[in-house]
Amino acid sequence: PTVDISDDRVTATLPTGESVSILLYGATVISWKTASGAENLWVSEKAALDGSKPVRGGIPIVFPVFGPPPKEGPTSKLPQHGFARSTRWEFLGKSSSEGEAQGQGSGDESVKLDFGLYGAGLDESVKSKWPYEFGLVYSVTLGREGLMTVLNVRNEGDEGWEFQMLLHTYLRIDDISKTTISGLGSATYIDKVLDATTHTQSTPTLSITSEVDRVYTGLKQDTTSVLADGKPRLDVVRDNLEDTVVWNPWREKANAMGDFAPKDGYKQMVCVEVGSVAGWQRLEPGETFEGGMMMRSYV
Ligand code: BG6
Repeated sequence: PTVDISDDRVTATLPTGESVSILLYGATVISWKTASGAENLWVSEKAALDGSKPVRGGIPIVFPVFGPPPKEGPTSKLPQHGFARSTRWEFLGKSSSEGEAQGQGSGDESVKLDFGLYGAGLDESVKSKWPYEFGLVYSVTLGREGLMTVLNVRNEGDEGWEFQMLLHTYLRIDDISKTTISGLGSATYIDKVLDATTHTQSTPTLSITSEVDRVYTGLKQDTTSVLADGKPRLDVVRDNLEDTVVWNPWREKANAMGDFAPKDGYKQMVCVEVGSVAGWQRLEPGETFEGGMMMRSYV
């Protein structure tokens, strides 16, 4: 694999053509292409990629709070979705497997890119809002079978703290009217558009015909699939995470977002976001938590 490191991003490419690109700002994955050249992630044409605000698209990392923070408690002073998506991370290095070891030529080549964010690396303004000692390592592994993204959270201080995390993935689709989502059947969800109360997914697949903002909780099945015309387009497989947010802003909300373009771009995207957001994960000093996802593309 080749790995290109510039001032603001890291891009890795496999000999077979798959590629991934990660902005150091937020350790935001902003492109993931399969060997066919197909792009799997949606990024707004007006997304800021210069570190002036969180990227509207790709895979922003939500940490340590999901959504607007609670009015009281340790995260109450933080911005929506926390600070990880709006802080520059450090590139820690790459490791690649060539596949030769197994005597299979270059067939199973993969490359892993690691990014780190530590309490010490935060601006004072952020540190004063959430004063805990932590270490985050985000590993992005590109292989022929897909893209794996895993966040490792470590308590490096001497007091316990709680967090939420989520990988806010904007998936690129051809046409929302032909898209269905499966893998959420009979799960319970909190409907943030309707009334913030709990409902049960009654149909095996979900079609999106208006604004959707749902937090599916305590999921039993690991895989959420995005289908185009009933055929698999993308799979998102949760790893040690129980919740999944499905979000599409639809016409009005897309219109209201200054960095959302084109304005009818909501027809080409759907967010399927794996995380731990319904409750809080608690880490005592020295403890770690690891959660993430594996994504497969069928084009
Ligand atoms: C989703 C939330 O995860 O993120 C939505 O469920 C929210 O409620 C959306 O609108 C986008 O958030 P932001 O801060 O990136 O505009």
